[in-house]
Amino acid sequence: MPRSTAAAELLAHARATIDLPGDAVKTLTALYTGATDFFTQDEGVKRTHGSDDFTYGFRPYGRQYSISPDRPDMNESFTYWADNPATVPHHDAPSVTPFLQALHDYWAVAAGITENVLTDLSAHYRQQTESAVPFRDYSYLEINWYHPSDRDLLQDRHEDGHLLTLAVSDGPGLEIETDGWMSPVPVHDSQLLAMPGSLLTAMTDDDIPPLYHQVRNHLLPQRLTVLFLANPPLDRPVPPLASREGRAVDVAQLARTNGAMFGLPAAPSRPAEQADGQRT
Ligand SMILES: [Fe+2]
Repeated sequence: MPRSTAAAELLAHARATIDLPGDAVKTLTALYTGATDFFTQDEGVKRTHGSDDFTYGFRPYGRQYSISPDRPDMNESFTYWADNPATVPHHDAPSVTPFLQALHDYWAVAAGITENVLTDLSAHYRQQTESAVPFRDYSYLEINWYHPSDRDLLQDRHEDGHLLTLAVSDGPGLEIETDGWMSPVPVHDSQLLAMPGSLLTAMTDDDIPPLYHQVRNHLLPQRLTVLFLANPPLDRPVPPLASREGRAVDVAQLARTNGAMFGLPAAPSRPAEQADGQRT
C-alpha cells in the first residue's frame, strides 16, 4: 500500500489534496510576493527575461492556449526549469533576482512533495527502483498571472500532459471534472491540489486518468497561480510504473511533445543544461 495519503488518494480518486506545513506556507507566500513584484513591472522589462522560443522565463500573453489558438489562455507566465536560474535570460538582473530566489525556495517544497508521491507510487507497483522516477532535471515551476477579461473561462478545459501538477492559487476560478461535471476547487493558502496528467496515465497503464480542469472568470482584478509541473526524463526511455504485457509507451517522447497541445514548442531534452543560450 502507498505510504503517503496523497499517493493513495491519487490511486483511488485521480486527485489529491496536500497540506503544507507552516514553513512551506511562508515560502509560498514569499513566492506570491516575488511574482507580484515581477509581473507588475513594465512589459519591456519582463520580455528581457524570456527566451525567444518562450520555453524559459517570461512568456507574454497570447502564446499558450488550452484548446484553440484563437482562444489564448488569459494569462502571462513565467517558467523556471530544473531549479536552474541560469536558464532564465539576464538572470542576474535585479528585475528578476528576488523572484528567482523565491522560485528556488519554493522548488524545494514542491519537489520534496513530488518525490514522496512518486516514490510511494513506485512502491505501490513494487518497482525495484530505490527512488522515485527521476524528475528534478526535467520539471518546472510555472507562475500564471491572469489578466482581467470578460470571457467566461480564462483557461478552457484541458489536462496538463505531464506526470503530476501541484497547483495553488490566490483566488477562485479553478474547476475540476468529476464524471463529466465541473466543480470549483476551494481556495486555500496552505493546501495544494495534485492533478495527474496523461503521462502518469501512460506510466500507470491507465490506472490513474488525467484530471481535466478549467479556470472560470470571477472578474477578479488580479489572479496568480503557482504550478509545479513534474516530468519524467525527457532524454532517454522511461520504464513505466505499471508494466503489463502488450503495452509499450514511449513516455519520454510523449513528455517532450505534449506541450504542442497548448501551442508550446517541444520540451528541451536536457532543460537543466540550458544557460541563457536562447536569448540573442
Ligand atoms: Fe492546466
